[in-house]
Amino acid sequence: MGEKMFKTKHVAHCLVLAYPGQGHINPMIQFSKRLSHKGIKITLVTTLSFWNQTNNNSNNFSPDIEPESISDGYDDGGHLAAATLEIYKDTFWKVGRQTLSNLIRKLESSSCNYNNVPVDCVVYDAFMPWALDVAKEFGILGAAFFTQPCAVNNVYLHAHKKLIELPLSESEYSLPGLVKLLPQELPSFLYEYGSYPGYFDIVTDQFSNIHKADWVLANTFDQLEQEVIEWLSKIWPLKTIGPCVPSMYLDKRLQHDKDYGISIHNQNIDACIEWLNDKPKGSVVYVSFGSMAGLSEKQTEELAYGLKNSNYYFMWVVRASEQNKLPKGAFLDTLEKGLIVTWCPQLQVLTHDAVGCFISHCGWNSTLEALSLGVPMIAMPLWTDQTINAKYIKDVWNMGLKVVVDEVEGVVKRETIGNCIKEIMESEKGNGIKENAIKWKNLAKDSVDEGGSSDKNIEEFVAKLAQYAAAK
Ligand code: UDX
Repeated sequence: MGEKMFKTKHVAHCLVLAYPGQGHINPMIQFSKRLSHKGIKITLVTTLSFWNQTNNNSNNFSPDIEPESISDGYDDGGHLAAATLEIYKDTFWKVGRQTLSNLIRKLESSSCNYNNVPVDCVVYDAFMPWALDVAKEFGILGAAFFTQPCAVNNVYLHAHKKLIELPLSESEYSLPGLVKLLPQELPSFLYEYGSYPGYFDIVTDQFSNIHKADWVLANTFDQLEQEVIEWLSKIWPLKTIGPCVPSMYLDKRLQHDKDYGISIHNQNIDACIEWLNDKPKGSVVYVSFGSMAGLSEKQTEELAYGLKNSNYYFMWVVRASEQNKLPKGAFLDTLEKGLIVTWCPQLQVLTHDAVGCFISHCGWNSTLEALSLGVPMIAMPLWTDQTINAKYIKDVWNMGLKVVVDEVEGVVKRETIGNCIKEIMESEKGNGIKENAIKWKNLAKDSVDEGGSSDKNIEEFVAKLAQYAAAK
């Protein structure tokens, strides 16, 4: 597709609908940038409450990506303003559906300003299957977008089809395309059945109408999950399009694409990078548990002393809402080798030479970022898909270790954390893990680079969309 054509005329228009969460909108923004680079006009949509929560800098997007909003029924405060997650979800699903229809109608209306062109396709986070129904009511294309790995999607698919009996009763699970999984290696919504009924419904309802989707897109890549991708491709029009990480960390074909473009917390970029700048190569342990999950006070204390006693430098992201759990007194007063921040530019940190390993909750974006940047991990999963991601990080991709929870105390002890840090930073086994991490980094880059598996899938998606739009 010629440079000229993409600047003067869009080949099609996609409305990309993200679920309101940092870990959900990030990959959809990146996919939007790839589409826009290939000539697609993008309307990037999430809830008004979420946009209001972010330091949205849409200047970071290309001019062909226009932000828009729908309502979740709680424009002031989002899910925190609802009495329960279940009430939030029910309201969001009703109001979201209505306001999405209104938005598509607005974009269709010729009386609106000249930027408004009808939508050809709705790309929606699979958490919100009602968006596909809306697309079909308008007679346009619909593509489900899975922000989590195919291994996880397959487990949820089996739960949806009631092919996994709940509560779990077996000692081991063998699902097509997956390695054998112990109950506690399945997503937490299954092994702690009933813990979050609202989320359980969301993750299993993803498949309720998937047979109507024109495409099923997944933020992963072929070599990473080959068997399960092959298996799911037999039942869905599946296309892998990841890793959805800013291009300058991978193929570098989208110049200036260095960050996602929005953040739900303020980050002091200079303070983080300056602190890292004078640390020796590979000497820093980076620690983060993403945007949602929190540790117990006891676990925070064990981690704090595990890090401190390891005697390595560490940079630890403790969100403002979690800071009150940090041990008081001696720990904070003698932090010679540690830096605690409320949020950081994670990609810049992971790519910094000083960082030697990443203690992570194994959220899917953090996992793909570590993998894309070749950073070995210490997996400390907490809930949702993180448990199964951790299993793959350690046993399938061999790019990390996994902490073991002390059965009596129910937390990961400081000694365990210290031993894992030592093992990954200093041992022969750690060196093997580092080599594997580099192998994955190269494969991740190849998949999105010109002619790579994800790049080809995106090209095909764009070509089909363009054909559809031209024939309308
Ligand atoms: C949530 C779930 O927890 C996760 O399991 C699921 O896979 C996606 O939704 P989240 O907890 O936010 O995600 O984790 P993750 O998927 O890792 O996404 C966090 C994002 O925030 C990453 O893109 C990361 O780069 C970014 N981040 C995190 C920062 O920019 N700065 C930080 O300090 C921490």
